[in-house]
Amino acid sequence: MTSLKYLFDNNARWAEGIRAQDPEFFDRLAHQQSPEFLWIGCSDSRVPANEITGLMPGEVFVHRNVANIVNHADMNCLSVMQYAVDVLRVKHIMVVGHYGCGGVGAVLEQRRAGMVDNWLHPVRQIMEHQFAEYRSLHARGVMSTQALWDRLCEANVVQQTRAAFETAIVRDAWARGQELSVHGWIYSLSDGRLRDLGVTVGSLAEADAIAEGEPFLAQTGL
Ligand code: CO
Repeated sequence: MTSLKYLFDNNARWAEGIRAQDPEFFDRLAHQQSPEFLWIGCSDSRVPANEITGLMPGEVFVHRNVANIVNHADMNCLSVMQYAVDVLRVKHIMVVGHYGCGGVGAVLEQRRAGMVDNWLHPVRQIMEHQFAEYRSLHARGVMSTQALWDRLCEANVVQQTRAAFETAIVRDAWARGQELSVHGWIYSLSDGRLRDLGVTVGSLAEADAIAEGEPFLAQTGL
């Protein structure tokens, strides 16, 4: 049996290192957490929320799933959002996708992978309903597969950002005057940099200003 002892050794070293810098650190965290951020990201092992943003334990509440999808029937995601907004009172929710996302790639290649195909349905819908022009450019060889994949990763973030701020959780928070912004970001595996997709929404008025029926995507210039 493999005990994975090296992980416990790593952990002991890490805890000692933190304690050496800040002897009160763990005592403080054991009593309460008050993160300002809720990160909704992809499960991909290459996109860890804390490391990328340089945040310490206690500073970011995290929910991750395949392809960073905000699904209104997903009890897990909604429970995390509700707790983060209503109890922890985070000030920012960032929906963070990444280029080279395997979940998005599976939709692009129409690959059958099993259960996850159902999970990825929202990404397939973007491809079918919002990507006619890009698909045509790609079919004519004007747009590379890489470029199409990049645009679909970005569009998925935009769509999931919208799904996040359309939840009753976020809308009710705004309605009672709570300070809360929802952001859409994308991470590049190749250079480790985060990019803001410029779709931040911070109030009911801003959310309502996004025209009914018009794809949120169209407003981002993607
Ligand atoms: Co991914």
